[in-house]
This record gives sequence, structure tokens and C-alpha cells, in this order.
Amino acid sequence: MTEPFVRVAALPARVGESVLLKGWLYNRRGSGALAFLEVRDGSGIVQAVVSQGEVDAASWAAADALTQESAVEVEGVVVEAPRQAGGVEVRATRVAVIALAEPYPITPKEHGVEFLMDRRHLWLRSRRQWAAMRVRNRVIMAIHGYFQREGFLQMDPPVLTGNAVEGTSTLFELDYFGEPAYLTQSGQLHGEAMAMAHGKIYTFGPTFRAEKSKTRRHLTEFWMIEPEMAFYDLDMNMSVAEELLVAIVTDVLAGCRDELAILGRDTGKLEAAIAQPFLRMTYTEAVDLLRSDETALMLDAEQEGLEDEKRALTEERDRNRAAHGQASKGEKRRIDAREIEIGARLDAIEKTLVNLPQWKASARAFEWGNDLGGSDETVLTRHFSTPVMVHRYPAAVKAFYMKRDPDDDRLALGVDVLAPEGYGEIIGGGERATDLQFLRDQVAAHGLPESVFEWYFDLRRYGSVPHAGFGLGLERTVAWVCGLPHVRETIPFPRLLGRLHP
Ligand code: 4AD
Ligand code: MG
Repeated sequence: MTEPFVRVAALPARVGESVLLKGWLYNRRGSGALAFLEVRDGSGIVQAVVSQGEVDAASWAAADALTQESAVEVEGVVVEAPRQAGGVEVRATRVAVIALAEPYPITPKEHGVEFLMDRRHLWLRSRRQWAAMRVRNRVIMAIHGYFQREGFLQMDPPVLTGNAVEGTSTLFELDYFGEPAYLTQSGQLHGEAMAMAHGKIYTFGPTFRAEKSKTRRHLTEFWMIEPEMAFYDLDMNMSVAEELLVAIVTDVLAGCRDELAILGRDTGKLEAAIAQPFLRMTYTEAVDLLRSDETALMLDAEQEGLEDEKRALTEERDRNRAAHGQASKGEKRRIDAREIEIGARLDAIEKTLVNLPQWKASARAFEWGNDLGGSDETVLTRHFSTPVMVHRYPAAVKAFYMKRDPDDDRLALGVDVLAPEGYGEIIGGGERATDLQFLRDQVAAHGLPESVFEWYFDLRRYGSVPHAGFGLGLERTVAWVCGLPHVRETIPFPRLLGRLHP
């Protein structure tokens, strides 16, 4: 639709033209007869320069009255400004207030994360949050792009279900007209039915886990993408996972350079992450690596590196603080911004330094048969720059529907894909069991009620074929791509243990 105003993102193509902008005041500076308004409109941020001599009195008064996050309309001429983002700014000819904002709670100073989470509905307007949501959008589009190109059909499984998928300990139960129902943990079982109708499908929807764990990787409501393919085995499944991740990262690198810069993401690491092929290692090999001297030495080296970095940052901070008194206004702003950056990095280093000895001990003592914990995954991924696919886990730690390894009945043909830089599991999946009696036994062994799985058993009665699939966690993927330490900043309104509002 042609709009009667111009978006900030479109301004570079409009140099020399007079335009009308509508947005919100992100920030302002002023000196004498000049006001510099940073106006954001959702597509970007642009500086509008208001000169008292070039606008009428009402416009100058409006520019003066604007408070942070006031809604504003600016008319002006687009001019080149190489030092500004996008390379342009607007010389205002008219400014009008649409709505004056009350004193805005989120200021450029540092806020605690709980404070910001309580104001998530406003925090979304901040530059970093804006960038993260744009990357999320790009990741979503890349996923659809990949599957659509590859001939998959997107299909929607139910959100209200009568059966568990991933065990009973994380189910949100509700009363469905007198019958127990659950918010779905995964669309997989219905996905299998849809794959038998369409060959290759993928689901893309919200999934729920009543996780009692407060970690940086757990949400109670998250979005999962679950491809399911008839006539695929574990190896083919891993190839799809690899291609999908390469497609996602390639697309984000191509389309989200500015957003990644705002997030401070080291794009070299992302480029390195998509060097193919990804390593495929068995669970047993992963356990050997965890327990090895190589791992212990790697963690020692990391500890030394972090201690050096901590020393250098602390020194820089002390120098900055000493210089602050005599610094110019602009210099002070730079020092304040850097202070926040250094503080955040020092916090992160401190946390890792506390964790490292525990990680080292738990890796060394890891026993074959246990599930890989978050810290074990973190340690494993530190050995590699690309994602690593760990397959053939002990069947005892995996879900009921997994096919067993024909060469070793203790093992399930499951795979977890661990993202590098400590991010860990972003994909879980595998080859599905095809034998009806085996599945019946597994349902019983997992303490699940057989009756609600009868429909699922039908898939093994009527043309049972080898098939496989996996689930990609959208938020964990976005956290990795953005380099964010916690999944809570990767979804507009995170639902976590202890957080249902806003
Ligand atoms: O490994 P999970 O539990 O696998 C399944 O649900 C399979 N039924 C998928 C399949 O084969 N179709 O979950 C898959 C992925 C995880 O690797 C992780 O990325 C994400 O979903 N995930 C979560 N993300 C955020 N918060 C949570 N609580 C998550 N639980 C799983
Ligand atoms: Mg898993």
C-alpha cells in the first residue's frame, strides 16, 4: 500500500526530497537554536535537525516540548549525512506533537533485567530489543524459505492434545469439558501422521513445557519447528538439520548486518559456524571427549584467558572513571556507554569464572548413561566452531518413540544438535520406531496411558515406513544467532517460571 508518509528505512533513497515522517522520539540533544531529534518509527531511527531560524514558532515549541517516547510528526528535507546510520538525516521544516509522553521509565542509564522484564511492553522499543526481534523475523522467514524450496508442506498440529509427547513431568494440564487435556509439548506425533499423508511436512507453532527450571535456555512457552519425513533415516535427518541451520545463518548474515552490529554480534563466529560438513559424533564419543585431558586443558586455558580479559577491562574502567571529571560532554557520554558495556562483560566473565571449575569437575566425572546436562553441552561445544551433532544416546534418557540402534539395543537413533559458543542443544530429533509391539511396550514402560495413543499406533498398522524428523527451538536458535545470553530476549513476551506478565 502506498502510505501518505515515509518510513525511515526508505529515506536513503529519498535524498533531496521533502518527506513526512511519523514516529516516536527516541532521544534528543540540543544546543542553543538547534535541536537534534532522534526519531524512530519501527523501520529505523533517523536524526531530524530542527533549526529555530528555519521553522515556525509552533514547530520550535513542539521540538522543545517533546519528551522521550512522545509521538511526533516531522516534515523535512532528506540530506546526506555520512556519519549517521543509513547515511542520511532530515532537515526539519515542520514539527508537530501527536502525543506527549509521560516521563518514560526506561532511560538510557542501566536498568536491571527484572525491571526491564516488568516493562517488556515498552522495552521492546529499545534498540537492542528491536534488533533481536528483526533477527527473529528473518530466522522465521529463512526457515519457511528452506522448507518451501525443499518441497515440504507446512501443516499445523493441534495445540490442545489428549496425550503427552515428551514425558509427563512437564505437562500443562487443563480441563477439556471434563476430560484431561494438555497444551502440546511438541507437534511431532501429529506431524508423523501428516508426513504419512504428504511425505514431507513441517510444523511451526507454539509448544509448552511446565519446566520448573530457571535456566537461560528454558521457556514455558516457545516456538518449535518440526520437520517430519517419510522414508528418511537418521543420517538423512541430520543432513536436513545441517542444511536448515546453514540456510538460517546464511540468510541472517545476508539480511541482518545492521541488527547484528547493534547486538554486537561477532559475525566471524557465525560465518565460521556454517563451514560444512558439521561434525557428527556418537554420544559415546562425546562422553569420551568430555572426560578427556583435552577438555580439562581447554577449560584451564579459557580460565586464564578470562582472567587476563578481566584485568584489562578493570584497568580500562579505572582509567575512564578517572578521566570522567575533566571530559567533554560528548566524551562523558562515550565513557558512560562504555561503562555499561564493560560492566556487562565483567558480569559475564565473573559468571563463567564461577562456573568453570564446576563444569570441569562435572565433565571429568561424567558417567556413560546419563543425559548430557546444559553445562556438559556447553563444554562440548567449546571444542568446535560449527554446530556438532551428537547421535545414538542411551535409549533410557530419550523419549518412547525413538527407534533403537539395530547394532546396539541400549542406544536410541536420536540426535541432538548443539550450537557452538556454549549455546548447546537447539535441535532434538531422530528416527522413529516403526514396530507396533515395540511402541506399545515403550508406552507402557514410560508409564503413559495406552488408550490415548491408539490413533498413533494406527500409523504403524497402515503402511508403516521408516521415517525421521526433529524439532528446532526457535528461541534458542535466535539466542545463538544474536549472541544473546538468555532466551528471554528472543521472544516478544517471554513466559518463564515466575513470569506471566506483561
Ligand atoms: O528435544 P525436544 O524436547 O524434542 C522434541 O520435542 C521432539 N518431539 C522434536 C521432534 O523430534 N519433532 O525439543 C526440541 C527443541 C530443543 O532442542 C530446544 O531447542 C527446544 O525444542 N526446546 C525448548 N526451547 C525453549 N524452552 C524449552 N523449555 C524448550 N524445550 C525444548
Ligand atoms: Mg531435547
